[in-house]
Amino acid sequence: MSEQNQSYEKLKNCYACVRKMTDFVPRVAIVLGSGLGDYAEQIRVEKEIPYEELAGFPVSTVPGHAGKFILGYIDTVPVICMKGRVHFYEGYEISDVVLPIRLMKLMGAEILLLTNAAGGVNATFHAGDLMLIKDHISMFAPNPLIGANIDELGTRFPDMSKVYDEELQTIIKNTANKSDIYLQEGVYAQLTGPSFESPAEIRALRMLGCDAVGMSTVVEAIAANHCGMRIAGISCICNLAAGMTANPLSHEEVQSAADQTAPKFKKLLTEVVRNL
Ligand code: HPA
Repeated sequence: MSEQNQSYEKLKNCYACVRKMTDFVPRVAIVLGSGLGDYAEQIRVEKEIPYEELAGFPVSTVPGHAGKFILGYIDTVPVICMKGRVHFYEGYEISDVVLPIRLMKLMGAEILLLTNAAGGVNATFHAGDLMLIKDHISMFAPNPLIGANIDELGTRFPDMSKVYDEELQTIIKNTANKSDIYLQEGVYAQLTGPSFESPAEIRALRMLGCDAVGMSTVVEAIAANHCGMRIAGISCICNLAAGMTANPLSHEEVQSAADQTAPKFKKLLTEVVRNL
C-alpha cells in the first residue's frame, strides 16, 4: 500500500472509531491554541473523545498532554474543539499532524477556525494583540500533501489563492469591532520549531512579508483547503519575535502572555461562532 493510502486507511479507521462513540455532526471545527485550553467552559458539552481512544491517532508522549476532542454546542451551533493540537516538532509524520483536521472534516465540519500563539514580526505589534490571518507563508514547513494524493479528499494541485475565507474574515472583523476588541491583520509564517527563531531569521521573515511567526496552523490550513473547508485563523501575539526586544524568549513567557490574552480571545471566538 502506498504511504498516502496508509494515511487514508488510518484516517478511515479513526473515523470508524469516532462513529462507534457518537453520531454528533459538527458544523464548526475549532483548534485551540496556547492559552485557550479551558475554552470548553464556553461549550455545552455533549461528548469528549480523548485522542488516545482513537486507534492510530497521533498522541503526545508527554504525560498529561494527550489532548481530546470536545463536541458540543455554542448556542445552537454544533462545534468540535481540539484541546491540544499535534505539532510537527514532536516528531510525527506530517500526514499525522493534519489527520485531526481531516477527521473533523469527515465528521461533517465545514468551517475551520484555527487559533495559535505567535511571535510578532511586525514592529507595530504588541504582546497581547490578536491578529487575523490574511494569508500565510508555508515554505519553511513540509507540505502535508506530499505523497500520493488522497483523491477522496481533494485534488492533486489545490489552488491556494484564497485559503482564508473572505466572508469569515468579514464576520471576524465585524465581531471584533462590536466587541471592542482591536484586531491586527497580517501574514503568518509557520516554521518547524521547536527552537525559536534567530534575530537574522526574523529580519529575513520581515523582508518576506511576514507579520507573525509560529510553529503550527499553516500545514493544517493546507490540508483543510485541500479537503474543501472554509478556513479562518487568529493568532495571539504573545511576544515580539527574537531580536526585537532585549529579552530572551521562553515558553513560559509565551504561555503567560497567552493566558493573559485568553479572556478577550475566548470572547471573540464565542461571538464569532454565534455569528456564523
Ligand atoms: N516564534 C515562534 N513561535 C512562537 C513565538 C515565536 O516568537 N511565540 C509564540 N509562538
